[in-house]
Amino acid sequence: MAFDFATPVERRAPEGNYASQKWHRYAQDVLPLWVADMDFHSPPAVIDALQRRVAHGVYGYGEVPATLTAALCQWSAHHYAWTIEPEWQQWLPGVVPALHFAAMALTQPGEGVLTIAPIYPPFLAVAERTGRLAQQAMLAEPAAPGEPWQLDIAALEAAITPQTRLLLWCHPHNPTGRVWMLSELEQLAALVERHDFWVVSDELHCDLLLDEGARHRPLAALFP
Ligand SMILES: Cc1ncc(COP(=O)(O)O)c(C=O)c1O
Repeated sequence: MAFDFATPVERRAPEGNYASQKWHRYAQDVLPLWVADMDFHSPPAVIDALQRRVAHGVYGYGEVPATLTAALCQWSAHHYAWTIEPEWQQWLPGVVPALHFAAMALTQPGEGVLTIAPIYPPFLAVAERTGRLAQQAMLAEPAAPGEPWQLDIAALEAAITPQTRLLLWCHPHNPTGRVWMLSELEQLAALVERHDFWVVSDELHCDLLLDEGARHRPLAALFP
């Protein structure tokens, strides 16, 4: 399949036609590097499939097709040697909505929802928006420029209180780019077992591994 990363795609003008948050939030001469929203065409297979669906002309209530849940099972088996079942899957409109649903499903109002920081900003809003208690622990800053951020397991443990019911985890981590090492995930799992709370692992960036030899390990596969 041919991918076109070279042809410029106009998303700025006329304002309104493309309704782009990226290009219309600030003045036109501001380079909108604040958001990870690319100006490439989607892959031809995606465009074709959407065009076929649009051509059908009727957009009633949809269903998650069995081919979709099966595709995720195959992907998981192929990339992670992890067998997952169609009935484990709950398809939602986005990952950020899923974080909110998880907080509401797994915790009671007033209970603690813990995040590590820095973090993709919507994580920080989940507790307040769902009427839960926002709890936060900082990662350890890089020891020197170019060094990685580190999981500070002591800081994470210090942030846990008897109210803590849920950790919103990001794996690989935005914004530090860390692909957590097995040893870090083992420390995390031990901590979670000691304190007995839920972990929701946002693995949206699992296919974006740039370091040679880096490997994604789904958290739920490692610690079922
Ligand atoms: C870690 C992380 N989770 C979720 C999202 C957004 O997910 P969605 O658009 O499916 O809500 C992003 C977008 O940058 C992200 O970096």
